[in-house]
Amino acid sequence: MPAGSSASPRVRRNRLIAAVTGMVLVAAAVVWAIVAFTPSSGSASPTAAPAPSSSPTATPRPAPTATSTPTPVETFDMTAHSIDDPDSIWVVVDKLRPLDPVDHEPSDLVVVPVPHTWEPLMRAEAADAVVKMFRAASDEAGLALASNSAYRSYEAQERVYDNDDELTARPGYSEHQTGLTIDIGPESGHCSLAVCFADTPEGQWLRDNAYRFGFLLRYPADKVEVTGYQFEPWHFRYIGTDLSNEMRETGVTTLEEFFGLPAAPNYA
Ligand code: DAL
Ligand code: ZN
Repeated sequence: MPAGSSASPRVRRNRLIAAVTGMVLVAAAVVWAIVAFTPSSGSASPTAAPAPSSSPTATPRPAPTATSTPTPVETFDMTAHSIDDPDSIWVVVDKLRPLDPVDHEPSDLVVVPVPHTWEPLMRAEAADAVVKMFRAASDEAGLALASNSAYRSYEAQERVYDNDDELTARPGYSEHQTGLTIDIGPESGHCSLAVCFADTPEGQWLRDNAYRFGFLLRYPADKVEVTGYQFEPWHFRYIGTDLSNEMRETGVTTLEEFFGLPAAPNYA
């Protein structure tokens, strides 16, 4: 049976109610859609994200300070070697400090293979340094050096001592007895063992370069009152490069002053 004309009034009323209800629902849906998809402010721009705060507020760290670890200062070890032991390369011998025992003899004497007037003996370490120094004088400056005297025993010093305490040491008081000392001149012999050696190219080269090889010009012209000896520009004492470089850098020119020992102008 067709739905239109033959339906009862009750059925028609129910259909009407259903149709009206449908229209209301459709209208409600349209209104919801309009409301839901229309920007609330009327602006065309999308909703802006919240602006970040003007500046980050991270907890500030303390600025790094200079390292608190102290920089190690290299200090020279004044006690690295004995100044009393006659076998020490730092032994200090002067008019107040005789060798102990006075007839001490080094145990490692060797012949120093360099030109000479008298065959030189020295302790092995010092002998090696002499060879290097003589070679450098030749290679760097074309100078020919020679040994005039090196190790002298107690007995040899008895023969050398001439009763002039400003020029020669008494037996038992000479650095030559340590095996660490050498008297150097030009191979020509010009000004050998004389003060004029200081003005020769050989004397000047040694004055300026001996420290590089561990040697000290032991009796400087301006330290007679400290050492007790006249200027000896030919007399070089081996002390090793640690000490020779340190004395060069500090400008201290005598062992007495460097080690804080009393000046030794005279015998006790
Ligand atoms: N001429 C130096 C001082 C010595 O005799 O040892
Ligand atoms: Zn000498």
